[in-house]
Amino acid sequence: MSRSQATPPRAGIVGLGYMGLATGLAFAAHGLTVTGYDVKPEIRSAVDGGRAPFHEPGLAPLLRAQRRAGRFRVVNSAEQMVRDSEGIFLCVPTPSRPSGRIELGPLRRSVREIGDTLRRIPGYHVVVVKSTVVPGTTESHVAPVLLRRSGRRPDELGVASNPEFLAEGSMVRDAVSPERIVVGTTDAKALAWLRRAYRDFRAPLIALTPSGAELVKYSANAFLALKVSFANELSRLSDRLGANVDAITEAIGRDSRIGPKFLKAGPGFGGSCFAKDLKAFVVRSRELGVRLRSAEAALRINDDQLDYVLGVIRSALGPVSGKRIALLGLSFKAGTDDVRESRALPIAAQLVADGAIVRVHDPIAIENFRAAWYALSGGADGRLEFASSVEEALADADGAVLQADWPQYGRWKLEWTRRMQTPLLVDLRREISRAAARRARLTVVGIGAGQGGPSAAPAQEAGPG
Ligand SMILES: NC(=O)c1ccc[n+]([C@@H]2O[C@H](COP(=O)([O-])OP(=O)(O)OC[C@H]3O[C@@H](n4cnc5c(N)ncnc54)[C@H](O)[C@@H]3O)[C@@H](O)[C@H]2O)c1
Repeated sequence: MSRSQATPPRAGIVGLGYMGLATGLAFAAHGLTVTGYDVKPEIRSAVDGGRAPFHEPGLAPLLRAQRRAGRFRVVNSAEQMVRDSEGIFLCVPTPSRPSGRIELGPLRRSVREIGDTLRRIPGYHVVVVKSTVVPGTTESHVAPVLLRRSGRRPDELGVASNPEFLAEGSMVRDAVSPERIVVGTTDAKALAWLRRAYRDFRAPLIALTPSGAELVKYSANAFLALKVSFANELSRLSDRLGANVDAITEAIGRDSRIGPKFLKAGPGFGGSCFAKDLKAFVVRSRELGVRLRSAEAALRINDDQLDYVLGVIRSALGPVSGKRIALLGLSFKAGTDDVRESRALPIAAQLVADGAIVRVHDPIAIENFRAAWYALSGGADGRLEFASSVEEALADADGAVLQADWPQYGRWKLEWTRRMQTPLLVDLRREISRAAARRARLTVVGIGAGQGGPSAAPAQEAGPG
């Protein structure tokens, strides 16, 4: 029977942040009836008013369309959300603790709340952990608490894991058209409900145990982070050899066994997931008696890459005390306003510590950066200024650093160069082509940005840049 004839599955979303909102809207786009709840009233009222609480391409139009179609609505209590749902997807944050373990507080709170609510509400439910949690969490921390607090038998309450693989910047596409769906269940009824929920997604559904599904999520992120880190190490080697790292990674990536994605060298990975997930994966594996040297190496290489780019910036700009430096691109990558673990933060902090007056710009992430910067610096430091245009950021600048790969920076204009005191840019993403730099009379220093290939004459050991 097609979805239009059958009663659509009813999904509840707990946590309307980056992942939860995209996930809920993807379900709605595939015909499910979705009820969302977030603990923060300001998030609820933004989403309820058809406004995405963060920037993500295509998200706001999808939200408005699904609300108009009556498939997505926001409620003000977890109880109402549970009443309106069969499958309840937990999309709450699992941030890093200083030990590297994940903070389970928000998940535990929402599990207790859902468990208590389920005691009062009849009918079969499946509670699905979509937040990223280390292998074993769903079975050892979530299921027992839910069963105890709800007073239900396992045949009345399913508990499952269903990790999410979407990436910020392409969330809508990734959530609506995933490459695969991974679910972890211990009972056939929960699996059957999840199969029904995902029926129209046209992606293979891989059914595993809960800890198997949790392991897939961490393994995938560890592998991707390793690819990025490998490219980052190659950028350093390319600098020694006068090679162009993009030419090298393109040649590597054309091997279908390797593939071209996540081989772009830059200032190191950031974002809310990679570093947090790798740290938790390393710690959890150690607890299980396994040393995950590959994930440890990816983290270490990422730290080294930050030191390396700070060295490149220092040697390109020279002593920066009293100089005006523009920092362009503040999000952890283009396409998102997320500044969590963005390299812009330590780069700005280093420049300010070295005495520079730093003027920052980003097309959409400026407010998030402002909040993160004040949290980092206590708001005391006035040597960081927020510019509302590239022109303003570059006015009288003694140099600039390009951190995030927003395409508009790649279309560098001659008039931008003319605004600068010294036409010098440190391009950490190789966004500005040689031709564009020549046209705009801009001197560009990059990482891994040489012209030669590995056959170039061996270079002497030299400082970065
Ligand atoms: N952001 C991503 O790209 C991404 C991708 C895949 C997986 N994940 C995982 O998804 C989870 C959520 O990440 P995010 O980036 O969406 O976080 P986020 O901080 O953007 O959103 C989490 C939301 O949950 C809400 N919340 C917290 N506790 C709650 C509770 N008890 N009840 C209801 N709402 C509550 C918060 O108010 C917030 O709006 C994390 O485990 C993350 O690792 C994120």
